[in-house]
Amino acid sequence: MSHQSVYPVPASAAQRSHLTNEQYMQMYQQSVSSPDSFWAEHGKRLHWFTPFTNVKQTSFVSGKVNINWFNDGVLNASYNCLDRHLPERADQVAYFWEGDSPDVQKSLTYAQLHQQVCQLANGMKALGVTKGDKVTIYLPMIPEATVALLACARIGAVHSVVFAGFSPDALGSRIVDCDSKLVITADQSLRGSRVTNLKDNTDMALAHLGDNSPVQHVIVVKHVGKNVDMNAGKDGRDVWYHDLLSKQSSDCPAEPMKAEDPLFILYTSGSTGKPKGVLHTTGGYMVWASMTHQYVFDYHEGDIYWCAADIGWVTGHTYIVYGPLANGATSVLFEGVPNYPSVKRMAQIVDKYKVNILYTAPTAIRALMAHGDAPVDGCSLSSLQTLGSVGEPINPEAWSWYHEKFGKGNCPIVDTWWQTETGGILITPLPGCTALKPGSATRPFFGVKPAIVDNEGNELNGECEGNLVIKDSWPGQMRTVYGDHERFEQTYFSTYPGMYFTGDGAKRDADGYYWLTGRVDDVLNISGHRLGTAEIESCLVAHDAVAEAAVVGYPHDIKGQGIYVYVTPRVGVEPSAELTKALRDWVREEISPIAAPDLIQWAPTGLPKTRSGKIMRRILRKIAANEHDQLGDISTLADPSVVETLVNNRLNRK
Ligand code: WT7
Repeated sequence: MSHQSVYPVPASAAQRSHLTNEQYMQMYQQSVSSPDSFWAEHGKRLHWFTPFTNVKQTSFVSGKVNINWFNDGVLNASYNCLDRHLPERADQVAYFWEGDSPDVQKSLTYAQLHQQVCQLANGMKALGVTKGDKVTIYLPMIPEATVALLACARIGAVHSVVFAGFSPDALGSRIVDCDSKLVITADQSLRGSRVTNLKDNTDMALAHLGDNSPVQHVIVVKHVGKNVDMNAGKDGRDVWYHDLLSKQSSDCPAEPMKAEDPLFILYTSGSTGKPKGVLHTTGGYMVWASMTHQYVFDYHEGDIYWCAADIGWVTGHTYIVYGPLANGATSVLFEGVPNYPSVKRMAQIVDKYKVNILYTAPTAIRALMAHGDAPVDGCSLSSLQTLGSVGEPINPEAWSWYHEKFGKGNCPIVDTWWQTETGGILITPLPGCTALKPGSATRPFFGVKPAIVDNEGNELNGECEGNLVIKDSWPGQMRTVYGDHERFEQTYFSTYPGMYFTGDGAKRDADGYYWLTGRVDDVLNISGHRLGTAEIESCLVAHDAVAEAAVVGYPHDIKGQGIYVYVTPRVGVEPSAELTKALRDWVREEISPIAAPDLIQWAPTGLPKTRSGKIMRRILRKIAANEHDQLGDISTLADPSVVETLVNNRLNRK
């Protein structure tokens, strides 16, 4: 690994930085050797109604996994994001909202955001929502989405955001799983001028649930303005957001919450079963969100910050809402997509708001990079200081393009590794401290103890490659799988007992830098979106034409990974182009367009199985990657001849 290029910290970044590299090293040492005193100090960055005296009470021991941080402290997340700032920032912009179309925008100050949050919080109370109730949020990237999260936090309701690209069925199952009393949605969403009927989807989801629906009310934001049916449910179920708010006082005291009271649930895919409700609590999560936002982006007072993620994912929760607001930041909130109306859109937004910190995903960078210089031509981008990347490994080509075209060679790129489960960033460079190597997420953040273990769980030392685990708890860690603590322990703490298993593979180089190599389980990463192969397979086999299906990832230029599907048709079913299209549409509608297969290969002669009947995915992955010359040992297969047929009919030939 000696020939890697290394990018030293630019002088401008070092000068601006909160910390020197030496300070980072000292703080890191202290954070892992004396977590109690370290976090006792940094926990004070929040406003506590009752200060904590306990700091870290955590156990990773299988059968007794239990995670508590600051647990006798009392606070409120919405108070920390809003009220606390009002004395000095009432008129400061919290969000510059940029609509899907470049000529639609609006800004929201801290005072305005506070007022709307209080009114919605009071409105929810009027509809019977109380502390501990679950609220499902199914909204586009509009200011009301941030209002909705904060209004829940204000009254101690637990939000569960469902990405607006998910289907009615996916929405319905998430509503039922956490027993949501209320749904907050919009008439429609708008992305790249494409309209999605969110209220109709909600109606379908609830109609489908029928008597099993726990939902009492649906609050609807009038956004795009096309007609919706406001009498779709029982009398009075559907309520317009603007009608509700117009009747509410803008005074709503923030509910005192215990540090370990739930703040939100967010569903994410695993290697088996249905999506898990990842549960985050209040105190530790908020400390983690605000502290990582400050140091990882080297955020300073007055910076304009833009995280181009969607609030439907954890990146939006932590780095559009809770982190930046806890730090009193001014953010850009963008409704649209990077290539509408043209590929210059991202650069134009940077120039329009003079963005200093830009946080986006490799898939967006690769999609723009395919257009050469066009995405930045004629744009200045001179306001940019720090660039961020998240969601998947960033390949060196995309890293260099981002560094040169957006960063003009002078902005550090923070390649941030983390997960829905981790609440916030765990492995990352710090802009003013860390020399960069393209493709490496570099070093652990404060309090994070990563390790690499072999498949037997032995910790490896020095330069090595294996499975990435975290050896001790950090404040932002998820606390449980909602309603299924056993699954939490099973999924994360049983593979390598006593350690949190990330599901990722990683290398560590001679400088101690971490290089993430992708998932080692059956989880796909499609354009930075996480999908379980099991989920897509069970959707496929629910189709009449399908006897059996196996889903694997394969390398894809823009999306990072594409979805490759092998299907065995039922007896009597004749594969055809129409049927292939029908299957693709089926997955799109049952789960989401992001889950739609890229390639569907019919396998009428069957899938490669061991004698005990287990599908050998290793072989299917190789064929999908067009690496059928590296299949390895296939002698353990029940019928090796199926492999030849699959290779001959493979769909990816590059
Ligand atoms: C998985 C988590 C983190 C918020 C968005 C995704 C992959 C994430 C990186 C990175 C390499 C990365 C991992 C991880 N991942 N960031 N910088 N380098 N891989 O959250 O949906 O929970 O997915 O995304 O495989 O396990 P998520």
